[in-house]
Amino acid sequence: MSINPEVTPYNLWKGFQPFNPPIIICQTCEIKNKGYEARCAGRTMGEMHMSRVSASAPGKCILFGEHAVVYGQPAVAVALEQRISVSVETLVSDSGSWKIDGMHFQAKKHPHVQALKNRMWPSSLGAPALSIRIEGNIPAASGLGSSAALSVAASAALRTARGRWFVSINDIQNPETWAEGFSSTFETSPLYSNVSGEIDSRRKMVSDPQYLANESVISVDECALLAHSVEAIAQGGRASPMDSSTSAHGGIVMLSDEVEQEVEYLYTRRLKIAEQERVWHLHSIELPVNARDVYLVIGNTGVYAPTSQQVAKVAELLESEPSRMKEIETIGLISRRGIKSLMEGDFEAVGRAMSENQIMLQSLGVSCPELETLIRAASPSSLGAKLTGAGGGGCMVALTRHPKQTSEAIELAGGRTLISRLGNNGLSIDNYENLPMWKPEL
Ligand code: PMV
Repeated sequence: MSINPEVTPYNLWKGFQPFNPPIIICQTCEIKNKGYEARCAGRTMGEMHMSRVSASAPGKCILFGEHAVVYGQPAVAVALEQRISVSVETLVSDSGSWKIDGMHFQAKKHPHVQALKNRMWPSSLGAPALSIRIEGNIPAASGLGSSAALSVAASAALRTARGRWFVSINDIQNPETWAEGFSSTFETSPLYSNVSGEIDSRRKMVSDPQYLANESVISVDECALLAHSVEAIAQGGRASPMDSSTSAHGGIVMLSDEVEQEVEYLYTRRLKIAEQERVWHLHSIELPVNARDVYLVIGNTGVYAPTSQQVAKVAELLESEPSRMKEIETIGLISRRGIKSLMEGDFEAVGRAMSENQIMLQSLGVSCPELETLIRAASPSSLGAKLTGAGGGGCMVALTRHPKQTSEAIELAGGRTLISRLGNNGLSIDNYENLPMWKPEL
């Protein structure tokens, strides 16, 4: 368990999501998550390495609105207790080749890390080779946002390790005074371009730049943006910012095609997909005080179903039967009602909305027998249950006041479970020493 109790200057930055309060990593609720999901490899450190940074970020689960969000309806995701931690270390003998989990780094196997390397750690600027260790308890390829969590944590670790140049250190909260880096407020950025070459983030050549390295230079917005861009590149241009923003900011994140009233607006993301510009407005939803009384139990069917196939299936259905857009609109209405209930702390109503959302998803054809078996098993002990993510396999989620009972019922029906409370922290810098690892010159 590692605790980061520090309050850092950027907590005070205006216009930024405040960085997380003290955080406990590897937190457990009363009921421990299953050991088989954990992959806590031991550290292989010692005299060989000179400096290091560890950052972590949570996975996510969609509470409302999957598939309908593709057609502009709102969707809501929550950060999970389950996290990915990325530790970055310098190697004493810099042979120029990176290591990942002790193995030779292969760009094809780790496209997110490769894309981040291109953006944040370019060897053309003299960046040294690194050793990266990835640990965590978010099952991969199951719709729980493990790749976004990896990308958020890795971008934060690299930024902490690298530091940042400022035009004015008195005004570091304002991205306009960054002499290098990325921000949603910069209009022109090569961030999303799918080039294999390195990207130089230096913005201004200034006569008297000032430099800072450590967690003070982290902007949650920058890490969410970087993570979204590398997700988009790794997924051939198709990635909504839901996973990256939920992982970076934590808590509850709502995504919509319009700027919503009554919830906190974060920022807008734009991405060109197949020559069409997609626009998402992201918001943060405040957690009600009674949220600690309820749990999410996630049941993994173990059935692999790629998101792209499920999205294509819905697209085909809507093309052949345009009247089915009614289901998409109904999901939008259910999401809005669910969000309102969530904000009011009426979890009985939240659960009902989840179950209604599931009926619509079934009707769209994205559920499957394995998901329905787990949902049926969870229902007697929960407030509501539905598939989460793209469906066709993957995971379901139940909202419950009896997590042990719900988890056991799902396991008996053949699912693997994870238990999480709501309201989990987003990105966290967990520890660091001997920084910067490398100081690029302006
Ligand atoms: O399975 P996930 O977590 O990637 O979620 C997919 C959500 C969809 O709405 C089905 C697709 C999307 O791009 O929003």
